[in-house]
Amino acid sequence: MAITSDTEIRIKDDIYWVGGDDRTAGLFEGSFPIPEGVSYNSYLILDDKTCLLDTCDISIATKFWKNFRHAMGGRNLDYLVINHMEPDHGAAIIQVLETYPDVTVVGNSKTFDMLDNFYQLQPSKRLVVKEGDELRLGKHTLKFIFAVMVHWPEVMFTYDETEKILFTADAFGTFKTLSGALYSDEVDFDREYLDEARRYYANIVGKYGSKVQAVFDKLEGIPIDMVCPLHGPIWRGDNIGYIMEKYFLWSTYEPEENGVVIAYTSMYGNTAVVAERLALMLKEKGVEKVNVYDVTRTHPSYVVGDAFRFTNIVLAAPTYNNNLHPTMSAVIEDMEIMAVQNRCYSVIGNGSWAPQSPKIIEERLSAMKNMTKVGETFVIKSSMRPEQIPDLERLADEIVSSME
Ligand code: FEO
Repeated sequence: MAITSDTEIRIKDDIYWVGGDDRTAGLFEGSFPIPEGVSYNSYLILDDKTCLLDTCDISIATKFWKNFRHAMGGRNLDYLVINHMEPDHGAAIIQVLETYPDVTVVGNSKTFDMLDNFYQLQPSKRLVVKEGDELRLGKHTLKFIFAVMVHWPEVMFTYDETEKILFTADAFGTFKTLSGALYSDEVDFDREYLDEARRYYANIVGKYGSKVQAVFDKLEGIPIDMVCPLHGPIWRGDNIGYIMEKYFLWSTYEPEENGVVIAYTSMYGNTAVVAERLALMLKEKGVEKVNVYDVTRTHPSYVVGDAFRFTNIVLAAPTYNNNLHPTMSAVIEDMEIMAVQNRCYSVIGNGSWAPQSPKIIEERLSAMKNMTKVGETFVIKSSMRPEQIPDLERLADEIVSSME
């Protein structure tokens, strides 16, 4: 179904999508570049009782409000379910409570603490739910499944038992606007969205793999016809398995495929020469997937995303003030925070008089969980000498061998 107008979209008989795309924000959470924007999804059920599931980010508040009020058709709002309190979904809560003072706000105990902390709101009518509690709207019965630390402590999923629809907060979401396609089966997801979905997962949820696994355990045996995340397209029918499999794999920290992410910092182009030469060698030796990033220009989130994707990571950086160049240090810090693990890694360092960078990269990567070093650390002094090419070739061979 294409999104054709600035009004609500029906996704099931009496269930509506009332979200919107944001192409104006440069950064998500003040950190992650989103050159292709992002969508904020919100859902409305019009049963005997009316129920809004989450609101939106401030950037689309006007659009959301228009969609939401149009769908309501003048009815009163009975329930506001808050699956996630992060302000990219909570910015319109104040407006909802002011407009519908009798609305019952549905959340767990942590939700209401956050509602107070963020907005100093203490709704007079509240329904504090526990794991497995149910709420009848009429035809629809909603069940609450806690998804603690995916990726905040108050997060919960809401399962519509009647329609077998799972509202999953941030889970199964992605960066990138919908751009007219509300459902994942309306796009070539592999080509158009997967990299951004992985970058979203790795950088927003990646640290909490065990928590994601715990939610998968809870979902075991529950029939699901539709998955409605707060970002990105809706999943339905046979397509649901695709994103579930991806999430499951990512949460186990297993790589998706053989491949190498080479991330380098270069001050005068000499470290870059080594990284690019290694990439050429790897391709020559038959490695199909090689991604090279200059991290002085590329945000660490792209490297972290590829670290979740590929079997092999190569980091190359110069020494700076007897330390590691700060741009590479930032990349490693993000990898540490997001719990990158279970990968092969190789190290390339540069130092004009006292090469510290290779030692620091080595120390930090080897301290991460279940990391396997491949090849000897490759060190240049200021620039690569022709006689070092065989050593680099050997490193490329060992990287290829590590994939077998
Ligand atoms: Fe989309 Fe965790 O907020």
